[in-house]
Amino acid sequence: MKCVWIDVDPGHDDATAILLALHSPNITLLGISTVHGNASSDWTMRNAARCLHAFGASSCYPDVRIYPGASKPLLRPAKHDPEIHGIDGLGGVEGLPDPESADVVRWFAKDADGEYIRALEGLARAVKQTWNRGDGHKTTIISSGPMTNIALFVAVYPDLLDAVDEFVFMGGGVGLGNRSAVAEYNILCDPHAAQIVLDAPVKKTMIPINVTHTAIVTRAIQARLLSPATPPQDAGAPLPPAATNLRHTLDTLIRFFADSYKSTFGFNEGPPLHDALTVAYVSMPELFKGTRYRVDIELTGTHASGETVVDVWNYQSCDETGWGPGNKNCIVTQSVDLDGFFTFFHD
Ligand code: BDR
Ligand code: CA
Repeated sequence: MKCVWIDVDPGHDDATAILLALHSPNITLLGISTVHGNASSDWTMRNAARCLHAFGASSCYPDVRIYPGASKPLLRPAKHDPEIHGIDGLGGVEGLPDPESADVVRWFAKDADGEYIRALEGLARAVKQTWNRGDGHKTTIISSGPMTNIALFVAVYPDLLDAVDEFVFMGGGVGLGNRSAVAEYNILCDPHAAQIVLDAPVKKTMIPINVTHTAIVTRAIQARLLSPATPPQDAGAPLPPAATNLRHTLDTLIRFFADSYKSTFGFNEGPPLHDALTVAYVSMPELFKGTRYRVDIELTGTHASGETVVDVWNYQSCDETGWGPGNKNCIVTQSVDLDGFFTFFHD
């Protein structure tokens, strides 16, 4: 079992990452922090809680909590993405509770005075508690949004980095962007945070858009979501109402995301399920192939600001003695077994 913390900005595909984090084998979910990104931080924290309610967290993780984090990048102004996710971050998704309702508010981490416990504190506490169990477990930290919270954790709690197993993040591209010719959205939103994380002396794995753009939810895959015979359910058995609702919610989610990807990027086959791949990687790393490189972020360029610069020819003569400056600091995934991934998703 891997002990996992997930930092999200839901976001349609972040919602699917939350779904997988709740129900994946090999994963014990410690907590969820939220960050500015696809929508404002007020929306992303509420959306994460709406997902917990709709995705059945009360039966599998009744004690898991949402820890609200950064509302803006370290240096740049916040940059949301209503064109892809709607103003509220989960545009068009049906079957979620009202964002102000008790079903949502109950999931926020609060202290004895009723104040929110914030992302930094929640994450630090979870990492420490996992380490203090003394059974050798460390925490795997997944990021599926801008990396502001993770960078702050690296800067404020350097003493806890030995207790982190790995940072796994969806972001960046190898010579490819989606919010500029060469910059991917999560990295472009907070490039300075991404560089801080990349310099941390911790193993890192990057899931770039070169890989996520292969994980397309085609109409055939979407149709399977609504099929009562989808494994592991017995063929022909009637769906329990909660499962029917879940299938409907996912169907509306993918429809909206598909429309966004079609109108913005011309994806005619369906939308890429970017963020779900982070959880799949942690649960089933054998589905992925990757190579270790030096990765840095272009912080100042006129045309290439926010680009992940992947040193595939080792021009910088970096080594593999560690994961920080001077080292090949990141495993860059290059492919995913799509049959394996979508089977995992459906299960
Ligand atoms: C990333 O940006 C957001 O639109 C998605 O949630 C994903 O994390 C893809 O570039
Ligand atoms: Ca995201």
